[in-house]
Amino acid sequence: MPLVKMSPLLQKARQEGYAVGSFSVANMEMVLGVLKAVEETKSPAIIQIAEVRLNHSPLELIGPLMVAAAKASSVPVAVHFDHGKTTEKIKQALEFGFTSVMLDGSHLPFEENARITAETKQLASEYDADCEGEIGCVGGSEDGSEDIAINCTSPVQALEFYEKTGVDALAVAIGNAHGNYKQAPKLRFDILEETAGLVKAPLVLHGGTGILPDDFKKCIKLGINKINIATATFDSVEQSAREAYAAQAIKGYYDLQTAEVEGAYRNAMKHIEIFGCANKA
Ligand code: 13P
Repeated sequence: MPLVKMSPLLQKARQEGYAVGSFSVANMEMVLGVLKAVEETKSPAIIQIAEVRLNHSPLELIGPLMVAAAKASSVPVAVHFDHGKTTEKIKQALEFGFTSVMLDGSHLPFEENARITAETKQLASEYDADCEGEIGCVGGSEDGSEDIAINCTSPVQALEFYEKTGVDALAVAIGNAHGNYKQAPKLRFDILEETAGLVKAPLVLHGGTGILPDDFKKCIKLGINKINIATATFDSVEQSAREAYAAQAIKGYYDLQTAEVEGAYRNAMKHIEIFGCANKA
């Protein structure tokens, strides 16, 4: 199955009422673990990396790896550039063959966010790629370096934003935040429902780590078709390595590598089941 664009995956999810997991990866082990899970469960998937992570995982190394892994997969996999900050890096991702990009202008005034998102949509279309935008502000930040306050999406503004930008997927802020929550968030399902009634694009839920399974399911019912998971993957990989050390199962580097792949695999398997995307490839 070839590397695919994100939009057909999300359109199918929208029609059939499930969500596609968009798993953040930082190294080959995470890519291998996520792909093992999606191949085994015959799930469509998105693998992604955010611009803030590139200090640890340079785009010129991890980007081609992600694209090659998607191309070699037996299930449809889209490769997404998450929370882009600069046009330079977005363009580089598109050159490497990423099939969707996001320029995160959610912290900017509405008109500015709409303008730069529309420009990014135009750039992506020159590469036959998709574009995600965000309206309202998801809390925290992808790598925890900023504590951005949650600013819930206005459904009416979301419609205006969608009409102005033509994005292929729209991220909403409904009380969700990046990173581990101190307690499970109280999501604004009313805002989600109203937005989904107005906007015809698939909606995206960021900050998936720590959202309760029933809340995920309710979000999917109300119109979420892409769910971003980052921290849970990193935590699961770390935990898996810790457990393997504690069990004295690590006798050399490759045992550690196996534990890392296993951690990413376990986390993806857990979310695939909740999102209802197994056997939808
Ligand atoms: P978490 O780290 O909370 O899973 O958020 C991931 C995310 O939204 C990436 O865009």
